[in-house]
Amino acid sequence: MTAPDIFLTGATGYIGGTVLDTLVRERPDYNITAMFRKVPDEFRQKYPKVKIVTGDYDDFETVANAAANANIVVHGGKSKHEGVIKAHIAGLLRRNKPSFFIRLGGTGIIADWKDGNYGELNSKIWSDIDDVATLTSMPDWALHRGVEKIIQEAAETYGNKLKCAIICSSGIYGKGRGLVRTQSLYMPDFFREIIELGAAFYTGSGSNRRSWVHIEDLMQIYLSLVDAAAAGGGKAVWGKEGYYFTVTQETSQLELAIAAGKILKAHGLIETEKPKRVSIDQIRNMCSSSGWAFDGLYTFASNTRAKSDRAQKYLDYVPKQPTVFECMEEDLLSCLQS
Ligand SMILES: NC(=O)c1ccc[n+]([C@@H]2O[C@H](COP(=O)([O-])OP(=O)(O)OC[C@H]3O[C@@H](n4cnc5c(N)ncnc54)[C@H](OP(=O)(O)O)[C@@H]3O)[C@@H](O)[C@H]2O)c1
Repeated sequence: MTAPDIFLTGATGYIGGTVLDTLVRERPDYNITAMFRKVPDEFRQKYPKVKIVTGDYDDFETVANAAANANIVVHGGKSKHEGVIKAHIAGLLRRNKPSFFIRLGGTGIIADWKDGNYGELNSKIWSDIDDVATLTSMPDWALHRGVEKIIQEAAETYGNKLKCAIICSSGIYGKGRGLVRTQSLYMPDFFREIIELGAAFYTGSGSNRRSWVHIEDLMQIYLSLVDAAAAGGGKAVWGKEGYYFTVTQETSQLELAIAAGKILKAHGLIETEKPKRVSIDQIRNMCSSSGWAFDGLYTFASNTRAKSDRAQKYLDYVPKQPTVFECMEEDLLSCLQS
């Protein structure tokens, strides 16, 4: 097998940085080009074999040219940016042979943030096999839908040449291995809001549940898909149905609040370990710096429940990492340094 040419984006990010490190470490013969807006100082020394492209997701031709020189694109970073997706597709379609496009999405697409029964359990658990028809025809307001529509339409139109897969990650925890950002999204937000409130928190009964994956288990799925692409497709499913949840466990907001309260009280960062029940309006006003009015409700009061049926069936996915609770102390305390 000839070594594949991979074009990777989002390499300074928590996920993309760990994907890059994983590929370099586990598949040293693969040729990798990574795109940066600003190349991290230590990058060339740590990854001397990785080629560099500088540019922004808005630089259509830069992205398209780099994609045209690769037979596998692994796209991470700002998941909702539609222009960069069009640029990757345009670039891959310039090639003569079939090419692979692996894009990072998120279980935000199934979250009941819009009309949810905030703080309460939603019994729906989504399967990426049984529910794939619904997942690939979600309403336009669903998170990620704009980008996924573009990819799925391209997959249907150019399926012989363009082999697509969406890695739909649940909430991620654990320390990343990239050179710049090594923290995920949820724990820093949770930490900041707890410190401000003086207690861990939930709303309603706190029984709303979210799905989780450890960053290293997520890497298993990346590696399996990249290897399958390098082998011309392998056992993986590509195209409109190439949709992969990455979930390994679920927790309720109340369970998270109980665990976080104990940890932060034990470290003297809050005065009570007892979680506080807050109003929906209080939750709504959290995470306000993100600029998205629903962020607090999405993060702490909605349900995102999913099963990784496809990865288990086609990628032999067997999660091996510690649970979100086992990693929580390290994840929360790392917020003190950021
Ligand atoms: N972490 C999670 O739990 C999770 C779960 C599911 C989905 N997601 C989604 O996955 C995506 C990546 O997450 P993450 O935690 O890895 O985020 P992150 O650490 O903030 O990384 C974002 C990456 O995207 C790059 N980027 C952003 N805008 C760019 C632009 N206009 N041009 C070029 N590069 C750009 C950043 O580069 P710079 O260094 O130049 O800014 C960085 O490399 C996010 O959209 C997130 O919502 C995250």
